[in-house]
Amino acid sequence: MTNTSADVHVVILAAGQGTRMKSAQPKVLHEILGQPLIEHVLRTSDSLSPTSVTVVVGHRADVVRERLAGRPGLQFAVQEPQRGTAHALQQAEQVLAGRSGTVVLLSGDAPRLSPQTLRRLIDVHCGANAAATVVTATTERPHGYGRIVRDEGRIARIVEERDASPTERQIQEINSGIYAFDLAPLFEALRSIASQNAQGEYYLTDLVGIYRRRKLPVETVHVENAQEILGINSRTELAEMSSLFRQTKNDEVMAAGVTLIDPATTYIDADVVIGPDTVIHPGVVLQGRTRVGSACEIQANVRISDSTLGDRVTVNNFCLISGARVADGASVGPFAHLRLDAVVGEKAKIGNFVELKNTTMGPGSKANHLAYLGDATIGANVNIGAGTITCNYDGVRKQQTVIEEGAFIGSDSQLIAPVTIGRGAYVGSGTTVRQDVPAGALAVSAGKQRNIEGWVERKKGSPAEP
Ligand code: UD1
Ligand code: CA
Repeated sequence: MTNTSADVHVVILAAGQGTRMKSAQPKVLHEILGQPLIEHVLRTSDSLSPTSVTVVVGHRADVVRERLAGRPGLQFAVQEPQRGTAHALQQAEQVLAGRSGTVVLLSGDAPRLSPQTLRRLIDVHCGANAAATVVTATTERPHGYGRIVRDEGRIARIVEERDASPTERQIQEINSGIYAFDLAPLFEALRSIASQNAQGEYYLTDLVGIYRRRKLPVETVHVENAQEILGINSRTELAEMSSLFRQTKNDEVMAAGVTLIDPATTYIDADVVIGPDTVIHPGVVLQGRTRVGSACEIQANVRISDSTLGDRVTVNNFCLISGARVADGASVGPFAHLRLDAVVGEKAKIGNFVELKNTTMGPGSKANHLAYLGDATIGANVNIGAGTITCNYDGVRKQQTVIEEGAFIGSDSQLIAPVTIGRGAYVGSGTTVRQDVPAGALAVSAGKQRNIEGWVERKKGSPAEP
């Protein structure tokens, strides 16, 4: 491949610990809408179709790499120990050796940058033939950010909060930590950065002053909405950023025809898809790869993760559905628990206090109350009575239960797996089924009922009784 000046190489800084998060987890793996911060940054970077993407890892590097393992084509550079942002970028030198073009530097902790701003950064940078271009914003809350010091309107240098004079701290134009650099002078210039500052770190921000002294052109791109460049350094900032993302996602969903009764208490992860005319009540949490069809009704306080719901599905209050599939017109809950590989067929009904795990319920089948159905294949139009339990675990391994089409399982029955209930068979109430039931048969296991006449009166009269 030939390198042209149009080549864009993205470098994402993600080696820092994120001390202010007070977390055992690396900062860039903290999540917003179900995705780590760095994944949001990578998605914005994807919009550029860059020639290469390098992530600089350091603190708990293995954990960060593992989390990004599903993304092919990423390159990693390791920064150990972490001596500041300039030192971090230096670690990408080997990866970018012999390359030319533009380096776009992104911060793994700033997830809200828009693809439009990123595009504008490159256009301004290349258009001006700049050595460096800095994305800046103006805010009334500049605290914690590097300040842009201008000299006759042009950027002169960036000063970090801790190193700034009282006057410089008044400056409201801040450094986003997002830049474009011409590769040619970059790595040589990085070597001239010193660490004489409040933190004893190698600051990438010093590059601006160095370039200006060398008369190399430095540009800025100012973003109107400072929210775009917010970095996350604390749990409070994580919560504020989450809320911005949540509002955007909720707006997108509503624009696609979904009713959210109370967007303020509706939590929808980034990759969730919902069909039109679905109504979502307060306190609903939709996570991961969840897909909800159209004209569904999801009542209050339901959590659904990594599950697929068809059209016209009703989920009543207080259900937990994870790793499950629910077909068109089915109804679930209230208080139901669908676990991994639960499959609820068309128009089937799962009522209150029913738990399904690795179980298929055929179309039109019903389990209206109080049941545990695990490792079972249940045909169409089966009726599962209240208190039915598949005893799927024999203490060593999980065993299968098969209930064929049209069977009727009476209340309070235990089906000891492996066992098959044949087509249309009946299981009487309170039966412990230990053997297969042939199609069309009735299975009963309880002994004959015995009534003891006058028992209550006699018990009352006995001297032992108070
Ligand atoms: C940095 C900028 C500041 C800017 C702000 C924007 C510097 C010196 N300061 O400050 O001007 O306003 O971002 O959010 O650049 N990182 C490493 N290795 C390190 C240090 C940091 O990879 O040795 C990574 C972090 O993981 C993080 C990013 O660089 O993703 C920014 O580091 P952070 O410590 O948060 O910098 P700020 O103090 O916020
Ligand atoms: Ca930061």
